[in-house]
Amino acid sequence: MKITSKTGLTMVLAYVAVFVSALAAGPARLTLHAGELKETIAPEIYGHFAEHLGRCIYDGIWVGEDSPIPNIGGVRTDVLDALKALNIPVLRWPGGCFADEYHWKEGIGSRHKRPSMVNTHWGMVTETNAFGTHEFLDLCEMLGCQAYVAGNVGSGTVEEMQDWVEYMTFDGASQMADLRRANGREKPWKVKYFGIGNENWGCGGNMTPEYYSDLYKRYATYVRDYSGNRIVKIACGPGGIDYNWTEVVMKNCHSRMDALAQHYYVRGTGNWVDKGSATEFDEKEWFSLMKNTLYVDEVIDKVSRIMDKYDARKRIGLFVDEWGTWWNVEPGTNPGFLYQQNTLRDAVSAGIFLNVFNNHSDRVRMGNIAQTVNVLQSMILTEGAKMILTPTYHVFEMYKVHQGADRLAADLVCEDYNFADQKIPALHVSASKSKDGIVSVSICNLNPSAPADLDCSINGFRVGTVSGRVLTAASMQAHNTFENPSAVKPAPLNAIRVNDGKLTVTIPARSVAVLKITE
Ligand code: AHR
Repeated sequence: MKITSKTGLTMVLAYVAVFVSALAAGPARLTLHAGELKETIAPEIYGHFAEHLGRCIYDGIWVGEDSPIPNIGGVRTDVLDALKALNIPVLRWPGGCFADEYHWKEGIGSRHKRPSMVNTHWGMVTETNAFGTHEFLDLCEMLGCQAYVAGNVGSGTVEEMQDWVEYMTFDGASQMADLRRANGREKPWKVKYFGIGNENWGCGGNMTPEYYSDLYKRYATYVRDYSGNRIVKIACGPGGIDYNWTEVVMKNCHSRMDALAQHYYVRGTGNWVDKGSATEFDEKEWFSLMKNTLYVDEVIDKVSRIMDKYDARKRIGLFVDEWGTWWNVEPGTNPGFLYQQNTLRDAVSAGIFLNVFNNHSDRVRMGNIAQTVNVLQSMILTEGAKMILTPTYHVFEMYKVHQGADRLAADLVCEDYNFADQKIPALHVSASKSKDGIVSVSICNLNPSAPADLDCSINGFRVGTVSGRVLTAASMQAHNTFENPSAVKPAPLNAIRVNDGKLTVTIPARSVAVLKITE
């Protein structure tokens, strides 16, 4: 997406006073190029991540077959249905930091006999291993999504990793395949994505990129393709900004990897110790989050340029396999459980992230928001038998139209959103055209107090009917609670005018909107 802010134009064209004042007074302008379809937006960009952390797996997804909470084979029915409604394309498991201390053989066989372990990263709680390989892969089958398994490099052996892949995917006779059969699963599962470690620069072993590169090559060698299952091998990438890690791993491993995992978390002005409240914040914090989220575009640009050096043909995908907002935990909850609320502010941030991923879909082929239920920027929060959908969930639901569609190039000229002495573009967009010819445009209005009029023209496309949906609320801090689960939910966007094929729409302040345009 090319964004030009009007004040930026003002500086360049200051001498063309009449032209500039006309621009400043008028609506924002969006030009889409439907005549030249770009690459397909990988559905996996709309992926998810579920770790053995706090109440994500236990309570959030898995309640067990004997629970009074309605479930299918132990998985909550309400959560299952909510995730299906997102067309969830891929689910990453079992971590996160947990992945590098997880020993998969403890999570198979009779649940009564599975040994327990201490989850040292997340609250030092006892992990029962009740949810293991079978439960996860069966869940993926129920969801109809791809499985992304993260392997243990930090504290696991090469043999353990090789055995795991054989156990899950080998159709013939072998110790591991026979063990799987003895545990009740005759046919192998399909496992498309396999991560060779997680954050191995930190919780996954505190390694240098040189040392990790050697380990990557060693472990990846034994991650085999069995029985027609073709595994996409994912190397650990940096967390946030560490271009040296990307450079070294790409240089050393590019010929043996299919994807590089990047993690990117955002917050406002807070720091690692005090990240700020999820629900109690002012406009300074709102602005700061928007600005920090926009920065991911620059990070992906830089990472892509490094990847281009070693992979000019863009064979290797950039998987942003952990991303999202990270706030202080909700007061009174276990600090190791990372349970946070989710406001309209999180939803607008998610809309920007997803627009950025769409716009970089030549390189970004997966995204996994952290995390699915009850942890960080969740889709879903649960409390006993109750479940609510967060504003971020609604963004994923509205944006699912982009999954598998062809990206459209977009040029945007818009006002700035000014705060104190800083400014950022007020609008952020991405657009796509589906295989059945529908153009979808997702638009975030980052300004919490000013609506924006937007003129939209589409080259190579005659605008016929237009409809839209919008997610907004009366305040920046609006969020859904168990008492009021529908405080923030999508509504029809009515301020749409089409005249002689010319489309104008008003995007409410602090909102995420998606337009559906047909010829
Ligand atoms: O998502 C929470 C944690 O954040 C993950 O376990 C880890 O990979 C990252 O640091």
